[in-house]
Amino acid sequence: MTTTAPPPARPTAIPGPPGHPLLGMANELRRDLLGTMLDGYRQYGDLVTYRIGPGWKWLGPPAVAVYHPDGVRQVLTNPQVFNRRTAGFETLTEMFGEGLLTSDGDLWKRQRRTLQPLFTPQRVAGYTDLMTAEAQRLARSTEADTVVDLHELMQVYALRVVGRALFSDEVDDVATELQRLVPLASDLSIARSMQIVRLPLAAPTVRNLRFTRASAALYAIMDRILARLADRVDTDNDDLLSRLRTARDPETGQPLSPQEIRDQALVFLLAGHETTAGALTFTLHLLGHHPDIQDRVAAGGPDLVRAALLEGMRLYPPAHSTERRAAVDTEILGRPIPAGSPVLVSPWVTHRRPDFWPDPERFDPDRFLGERDRQRPRYTYFPFGGGPRSCIGEHFALLEATVLLSTVLARYRVESLDPQPRVTPLITLRPAAPVRAVLHAR
Ligand code: HEM
Repeated sequence: MTTTAPPPARPTAIPGPPGHPLLGMANELRRDLLGTMLDGYRQYGDLVTYRIGPGWKWLGPPAVAVYHPDGVRQVLTNPQVFNRRTAGFETLTEMFGEGLLTSDGDLWKRQRRTLQPLFTPQRVAGYTDLMTAEAQRLARSTEADTVVDLHELMQVYALRVVGRALFSDEVDDVATELQRLVPLASDLSIARSMQIVRLPLAAPTVRNLRFTRASAALYAIMDRILARLADRVDTDNDDLLSRLRTARDPETGQPLSPQEIRDQALVFLLAGHETTAGALTFTLHLLGHHPDIQDRVAAGGPDLVRAALLEGMRLYPPAHSTERRAAVDTEILGRPIPAGSPVLVSPWVTHRRPDFWPDPERFDPDRFLGERDRQRPRYTYFPFGGGPRSCIGEHFALLEATVLLSTVLARYRVESLDPQPRVTPLITLRPAAPVRAVLHAR
């Protein structure tokens, strides 16, 4: 008797929610990005397809979200295959220019090489005194037993630290304007990136005018800061700005153009404070709901403070998701991904997988101590991304945040007044409303 071997299984399409016939999942993702992605993971698993728009071939392949850590590793560690030429990064470039966050290819490589030495653990440690002084200043100036907005306080702190460390300047005067502009600029960028057909910015539509006005207002703030630092002759300074001014292209010897300096400075000003402020806000909020854990952390020294921060960023990762585009036909977790596919990864979802994070919604800093911490596979946790384009400010942010938490917890007992904060996933994760707390003197 002869048997015929079954034909080799053809890889099936990656499943996903069907969505609206013409819009696909555009509305759901726009209305509730994080909830829609988490539902997608729960229903379909490690890889999920999201069609955005009507699915006509000429609009390109659908987006694929990758929720399994092995797939996240593939995406983040292969920048040639999964690059930044995505709608999201293109609109960010239109809004904030070609700084380190948005540039790609050789330009990015040169920029990263120039700036990396400023962010080594050793260089960053040099900022400890400045961070401590700013944390103490904030703790001293906050009144005990009154209601405060943790987000507002943390934004003030993070902006002062970035201003002093990167520009050797006090940037308090731009804080209010930035607090208004950053969410607006993020919102406009996301809305533009999700348009199925994007008109050039020069087309005088209402949306485009709002977009270009927000971008111009951000650059105006940056120019004000740069103008007052223009004639500072301070050869001892090795801050970001001095480095940008003295940087030379290793091949051509050319300095950066004034436009390149503005772009770079703006990206650092924004990327350097929004994310850390969010991480601190949510961590303090969580500690304020768990008095027992808070007392342990306050008395437990740097390792426990760091564990609380890492756990805060697990539940509320400031960079909740990011995207890439497949440059060529490729595969993820053995499934075919056509060239041109937008590819999403999301710490928000992967950090909540019950197979890697038992009882995922529970705030438990012990996850980041001892054996449990050492045994965790790498890409189950990636608040700072990974691969060559991981966050250049990681050491800076961790130091800045642990200094603030230690200082505040040494002086105050934090009592959170709100239940779980509602979040808005703009470019970074932001609380949708003030995060109220009372600080009681210890
Ligand atoms: C808790 C705080 C922070 C978090 C969670 C965070 C997260 C991230 C993530 C996930 C990425 C990679 C994005 C991607 O792969 O698409 C990134 C990139 C970046 N971050 Fe951060 N960040 C933080 C603080 C900072 C600080 C303090 C600075 C500057 C002082 C900074 C500057 C940047 C820059 C310039 C990039 C682009 C790096 C490149 O592409 O070469 N970040 N950040």
